[in-house]
Amino acid sequence: MNNKPSDIIKGVILAGGTASRLRPLTNVTNKHLLPVGRKPMIYYPIEKMTGAGIEDILIVTGVDHMGDVVGLLGSGKDFNCRFTYKVQDQAGGIAQALSLAEDFAHGVPVAVILGDNIFEDSMRPYLEKYLKQKNGSHILLKPVKDPQRFGVAEVKGDKVLSIVEKPKNPKSDMAVTGIYFYDGEVYDIIRTLKPSGRGELEITDVNNEYIRRKTMTWSSMTGWWSDAGTFESLAHVQKLVEDKPPK
Ligand code: DAU
Repeated sequence: MNNKPSDIIKGVILAGGTASRLRPLTNVTNKHLLPVGRKPMIYYPIEKMTGAGIEDILIVTGVDHMGDVVGLLGSGKDFNCRFTYKVQDQAGGIAQALSLAEDFAHGVPVAVILGDNIFEDSMRPYLEKYLKQKNGSHILLKPVKDPQRFGVAEVKGDKVLSIVEKPKNPKSDMAVTGIYFYDGEVYDIIRTLKPSGRGELEITDVNNEYIRRKTMTWSSMTGWWSDAGTFESLAHVQKLVEDKPPK
């Protein structure tokens, strides 16, 4: 790459939502400020972005604990990056939170990490692969034992055939992780979405539209990956971080 990644892609960390599965902890704080190992959870996605050379990062969070998030992270100078903050008034879904990135990204592609996703691999090789692709979307998949908890992808060779959100009878064990790359078309796609049964604009519907347009590619993550949105997964990720720290 001739350009620095920061010139050609921006970062978005989605840290809104209600985190109802972690109550009562999240009655008084934002889930992404809870400790994982020796750091607040949100440090992990930030370090993944900066480790891949991304210097412009949008943090989207809810109204309740925005002040604590800004108080902790500041301008970004302690992380060698620049933070922009946007408020998601209500937890209207991951795709709705992502729609708030439109003015920030200004047509430039974005690397998106869900704030409760923690993983071992460096993001850099995946980012470089996506940037070679020029447009469309790229997602990262990981085989899991409990696919019913996630978006589940059916793949054939290098193609993603479909993604189903939290299927009762998953067609594969390939979970869609919360690390996504999108071009500037993503906002127009989000504008066409209707709320799902759980009342949210679903990122899975965005991904299925890229599949329909035949512009979605995927990679399999090599290292460990976990979300941290339930007490079980939060405990699990504590152990992973301690045993094999993220790269
Ligand atoms: O962790 C990966 C999974 O994340 C994917 O496999 C699923 O396809 C995707 O829908 C998502 O599933 P969850 O139901 O686990 O997402 P959750 O509601 O826990 O939200 C994950 C993060 O997204 C959360 O830490 C903050 C952000 N978020 C979520 C919502 C609903 C927002 O910023 N705003 C929101 O309104």
